[in-house]
Amino acid sequence: MNLTDHYGRSIKYLRLSVTDLCNLRCIYCMPENGVSKRSHSEILSIEELTEIARASYALGIRKIRLTGGEPLVRRGILTLCRNIRSIADDIELSLTTNGILLNEMAQPLKEAGVDRLNISLDSFNAATYKTITRVGDLSNALSGIKAAQNAGFDNIKINIVLLDGFNSGEIYDIIRFTKDHAVQLRFIELMPLGEAKALYQERFQTIAEIEEYLRQNARMTVDGVARVYRLPAHKGSVGLISPMSRDFCPTCDKIRVTCDGRLKPCLHSDEEIDLRDLHGEDLKAAIIRGAHHKPFRHHLPSGGTDTNRDMNEIGG
Ligand code: 5AD
Ligand code: SF4
Repeated sequence: MNLTDHYGRSIKYLRLSVTDLCNLRCIYCMPENGVSKRSHSEILSIEELTEIARASYALGIRKIRLTGGEPLVRRGILTLCRNIRSIADDIELSLTTNGILLNEMAQPLKEAGVDRLNISLDSFNAATYKTITRVGDLSNALSGIKAAQNAGFDNIKINIVLLDGFNSGEIYDIIRFTKDHAVQLRFIELMPLGEAKALYQERFQTIAEIEEYLRQNARMTVDGVARVYRLPAHKGSVGLISPMSRDFCPTCDKIRVTCDGRLKPCLHSDEEIDLRDLHGEDLKAAIIRGAHHKPFRHHLPSGGTDTNRDMNEIGG
């Protein structure tokens, strides 16, 4: 089965948000006081998440990424990983985490069958990291990355959302980190949705200048939504993700499911399809319908986002 959208794009990639809770409070993602805990029944159970993954696989999905909030605070996350792994070997199972809990969880995640990790870490300066995350301790995130490498994760990607005046001063130091570390650092342009709408006016910075520098010093390859540059003799690489200045919508192959069970054909659309209480063929039919409804592209630079959700509910 090949899941396609209305425009003929083949949909291969499911992002599954497993919780809207997080142990950090990043300024562009979470309200300062966090979000009130939803009742147990509002959030998809581990069984429901597994069922959605299984139906998606049957429809042709081959990449599943677990997101949050912070997926590692979700009870049962390891069971979910094992369940998804047992659906099929040819699923690429990955997870986006802030890394704080990787010190304890990297090894169990590896054993549960997770293939790859993306780690969100917006600054390598302890004070800036604290400002951006409001409560985070940089040393925990850095030791989490080490723990992941020790557990055998390679191809680790580190997501850095560019924030003018916060981490913009350390861009070239961050790039230098790839000299001795075999990771892909990815600079991401801030998108004005949810909590980031207000911040956007003051903090948005394009990746244009970084790209100019990299273009002069390295060759570019494409990896999914990122343009990736590897500087000569560097072990790692630098990826650029520019949803604002150069969107990648025409080749988008993603659908998303929120932690309360709504399929979102597009991050920025307000259209949602309720998957709750659907099983078997009904569940598959709803996923097919969702994929069909994917809009061709967002219109962020001209009209803004149409979603009223915060990032912690969608998972990026
Ligand atoms: N704009 C760009 N990236 C964002 N992320 C969260 N909110 C935004 C935003 N408004 C990033 C996180 C994480 C990834 C899933 O999305 O930092 O790394
Ligand atoms: Fe992503 Fe939406 Fe753009 Fe598609 S249209 S690439 S889902 S942001």
